[in-house]
Amino acid sequence: MSSEKFSHALPRELTQDIVKYRHICVLTGAGISAESGLATFRGKDGLWAKFRPEELASLDAFMRNSELVWEWYQHRRQVLRASKASAGHLALAVWEQLASEFTLVTQNVDGLHQLAGSRNVIELHGNLQVNRCLNCGSESTDVEITFSERVPHCHCGGKFRPGVVWFGEMLPEANLERAMTAAENCDLFLSVGTSSQVYPAAALPAIALDHGAILIEINPEVTSLTPLAHYHLQGEAGAYLRLLVSAYESKIAHDHS
Ligand code: OAD
Repeated sequence: MSSEKFSHALPRELTQDIVKYRHICVLTGAGISAESGLATFRGKDGLWAKFRPEELASLDAFMRNSELVWEWYQHRRQVLRASKASAGHLALAVWEQLASEFTLVTQNVDGLHQLAGSRNVIELHGNLQVNRCLNCGSESTDVEITFSERVPHCHCGGKFRPGVVWFGEMLPEANLERAMTAAENCDLFLSVGTSSQVYPAAALPAIALDHGAILIEINPEVTSLTPLAHYHLQGEAGAYLRLLVSAYESKIAHDHS
């Protein structure tokens, strides 16, 4: 996808108003990491176009064929190891520093927000670098375990599985609660690079709207969320987030001068 395809210009009233928002809540999806070279899930080049989720991303699949599932996650971990934070990840890390209240919620499991410098990241679908024992539940981020070629075992004898949320599993409850509270309390909600198809994450923008927030969607495509958004910034996450953060920064500088 080429940047030239989109104008990447902010509506004037958004540039004017951006600094008035006190609590900003951002929900990110695979689209922000597409600019780091990581495949998204849906669409013609997405992971789910090439692999069957029920064979790779469920507890049943892991019980049936742990080595195959582990291998697939190893592949994703290797790709991730060679990736860098994108312009969008970096812009959000700067915004967190500037805003009086800022909540970053992500469906991504790649840890690239943290790599970019974001401090408070609420992960809804887990993290690829984490391993969890199927037997005793203990977690490990030991790289020897994470990058083990075969399914590693815990000291209790149980198998380690990737610490991500699989199909049919519950989201980490405390994280979901924090995300919902942020959606209820924010006055600006941004949905960035997500197809808005996977619940409960996809419910967060509607919660924010119900509580009076302004909703911005950044996505090159039209999604089911687009008709509800006050602004659909149609284009790439990196380009638009850079513009938003620089508008925010220059308004703050102006207000303090
Ligand atoms: P999807 O693959 O469903 O959607 C990615 C979205 O990013 C699409 O709407 C694209 O149009 C958009 N996109 C692509 N490039 C972009 C760019 N440069 N800038 C902005 N947007 C861009 O990914 P998610 O919505 O994140 O769950 O998927 C949600 C969940 O479904 C994932 O967390 C994963 C998956 O099954 C689990 O693994 C539990």
